[in-house]
Amino acid sequence: MTGEDTGGKPQNAAQIDPDSHATTTGMTGHGYYDANSRTQWNAIEAVLPMLDNAAARFPLQDDGVITFADYGCSEGRNSVAVMARALETALPRTALPLQTVHSDLPTNDFGTLFQNLRPHGRSVFGSDRVFSSAVGGSMYDQLRPDQSVHLATTFNAIGFLSRRPVAALPGYIQPNGPSAVRGNGRVTDEETAAFGEQARRDVEAFLKVRARELVPGGQLLVQVFGATAEARTCDGIYDLLNDAVLGFVETGEIDTENYARYYQPVYMRRLEELTGPVLEPGHETAGLYDLNEARDYEIAVPFVEQYRQDGDLDTYAAAYVHFFRAFTETVLTNALPDTPGRNALVDRIYARVEEILKAAPDLYPFRYLAIAMRLTRKA
Ligand SMILES: C[S@@+](CC[C@H](N)C(=O)[O-])C[C@H]1O[C@@H](n2cnc3c(N)ncnc32)[C@H](O)[C@@H]1O
Repeated sequence: MTGEDTGGKPQNAAQIDPDSHATTTGMTGHGYYDANSRTQWNAIEAVLPMLDNAAARFPLQDDGVITFADYGCSEGRNSVAVMARALETALPRTALPLQTVHSDLPTNDFGTLFQNLRPHGRSVFGSDRVFSSAVGGSMYDQLRPDQSVHLATTFNAIGFLSRRPVAALPGYIQPNGPSAVRGNGRVTDEETAAFGEQARRDVEAFLKVRARELVPGGQLLVQVFGATAEARTCDGIYDLLNDAVLGFVETGEIDTENYARYYQPVYMRRLEELTGPVLEPGHETAGLYDLNEARDYEIAVPFVEQYRQDGDLDTYAAAYVHFFRAFTETVLTNALPDTPGRNALVDRIYARVEEILKAAPDLYPFRYLAIAMRLTRKA
């Protein structure tokens, strides 16, 4: 929907079906995510050597089609770049046709994805052996036939939980809790445990369904934002959103019950929370895969680097807010009562976010930590 009440910026506010195995309807659409996901690309770029290894190792066959699938592809700019990179290694390895499958929730902006896949009426991949398609569905469900995928990937996505493990999170708006710098809220140990458990189940569900889809020897690359002993990708951004939303609770425009129920259902994992279900006996998924590579890492955030160089606070604040609005807006919108003024209220919340950040930028430092592993489906 585009309208004056949103300042011309499209919003995607479809309701979330509790059976959808998803807790968001997707990123802000109509090119907004694509335009504000350079940081996520940097996080992908850091693990391209893992992708190259996967593209050099998926098993070859004598006939049929080779299939690569990317889960949580959003509008596709980064997903297309990932596939293009994998194809560089894969095309010379086989004479067979290759299929790229780009998958995300049914409510994702697939219109933009298709335009990215076929600009000017031709495949973006520039080869007459490459055919692309899209699949709408939760990545926690099986979405492809048994043993039909040779290389599967997911980037910056598996932190989005499949379900809300608690009905309310009254002390803060994100499961990992406030940063040490800001300390503006509280998540109890019990709540932390419930989210940790949900995150574990989600990794297991994802690994189980991908194990069905992958051919024996098939490659799986899982990468996602997360946490290390040093820092967490939630710090800064959610403190800021929490402060802004609380301002509207104080004025009565958001009621306290509504605030208690609202949270962003994303979880920042440590590397061992990602690899545990592969390695530790006792997990349902232990034994399905060999773990070939695993790492946690930090990337440079483009708008933070730029600000360090030029000190331009206005540009920094605008880029910072665009960056996290792209992946928080639909959940925030859906959490507010469905009134005619809802989109305008959301615009005012993000405007407030920008004001707060400009008034005290040092209170909301942002760093991007990520974790990744490459697996091989056992025969
Ligand atoms: C931050 S974006 C990442 C997009 C792209 N992979 C990248 O790295 O730039 C996260 C994506 O995960 C998708 N997502 C969230 N929950 C999902 C689920 N249960 N199943 C499939 N996709 C999901 C969102 O719709 C969104 O497009």
